Amino acid sequence: MIRARIIGTGSYVPEKVLTNRDLEKILDTSDEWITTRTGIRERHVAADHENTSDLATKAAESALEMAGVNAAELDYIVVGTITGDYPWPATACIVQSNLGAENAGAFDVSAACSGFIYALATAADRIQAGNCKKALVIGAEILTRVVDWKDRNTCVLFGDGAGAVILEAQEGERGILSTHLHADGSQLKLLYQPGFGTRMVPSPENLAKGEHFLQMQGNEVFKVAVRSLSDVAQTALDANGMTVEDVNLLIPHQANIRILEATAKRLNMKDDQVYINVDRFGNTSGATIPIALDEANRSGRINDGDILLFNAFGGGFTWASALLRW
Ligand code: UT7
Repeated sequence: MIRARIIGTGSYVPEKVLTNRDLEKILDTSDEWITTRTGIRERHVAADHENTSDLATKAAESALEMAGVNAAELDYIVVGTITGDYPWPATACIVQSNLGAENAGAFDVSAACSGFIYALATAADRIQAGNCKKALVIGAEILTRVVDWKDRNTCVLFGDGAGAVILEAQEGERGILSTHLHADGSQLKLLYQPGFGTRMVPSPENLAKGEHFLQMQGNEVFKVAVRSLSDVAQTALDANGMTVEDVNLLIPHQANIRILEATAKRLNMKDDQVYINVDRFGNTSGATIPIALDEANRSGRINDGDILLFNAFGGGFTWASALLRW
């Protein structure tokens, strides 16, 4: 059976670090509040000259190098992002050009914090269908440009970064075993960016009201997130006839330490089964999972044959999981 196997990982975060102490100087907030409510201590912020495609390209170059793959060998590039360089065309096309991936089709997936798993699923399915040999999947975001820096409810939570994987079609038991994607658009206004699409065009009034900033009802999102994240992880295990004990490492979307702990508790997972780095990067939306995966991989936290589980929840709402044998 042909499976999509991850043969290289990469990540990139901007140099500039913004700590909770830095935020205390510009907002009515405290390191204590942010740490206890979210687990976040610092986040990385893109420099003015950096674009989402630049972060994505650097992560991709690092993944290509680890995989020993030349960009011209790629058939397919898909970027999970909600903060692309332009409304259109796709950031994936800019990455394709930056890398010189002359043989690759390229497009973006918009599924907010679930964007990487959605992107991974499309690439894995294309590989399994025999339509693609090598794919580059990226999660990349510059959230700090769409948050309102006067809104302490949201701006303390987010950061910038990118992570990437190279997938290759391989025969055998290793690779992506399943993906599950879900959505519920009926609650989209609990977490969204009102402007500026075709529903709300830019105007001085809309700009003055801050309609171009991310808006979130944190409490409501929190409750749905915990339930959906644990349910979709369980779905992945059930679909593969596995239990929580079979999982060597859960790499969840890193939104908030309390969400991660509550999800792990609902799943009966032990602390050492869950990878956490939200303290150092905050919520980088579609980039959290590939950044965490790259860290875990490069630090020797993952061994051949390990069972890895990814799960994510975000705006849309969307939620998703992927189960793989490393
Ligand atoms: O990626 C997926 C999408 N997003 C998420 O997963 C986020 C989900 N939600 C959350 O993580 C949490 O709801 C938050 C971290 C956003 C908020 O935590 P909370 O425990 O739900 O706090 P809250 O919104 O109930 O606010 C409690 C208090 C409020 O003050 P009052 O009204 O009780 O006086 C807020 O105004 O905390 C206040 N507050 C702050 N105080 C200091 C809100 N933000 C801050 C802040 N610093 N940065």
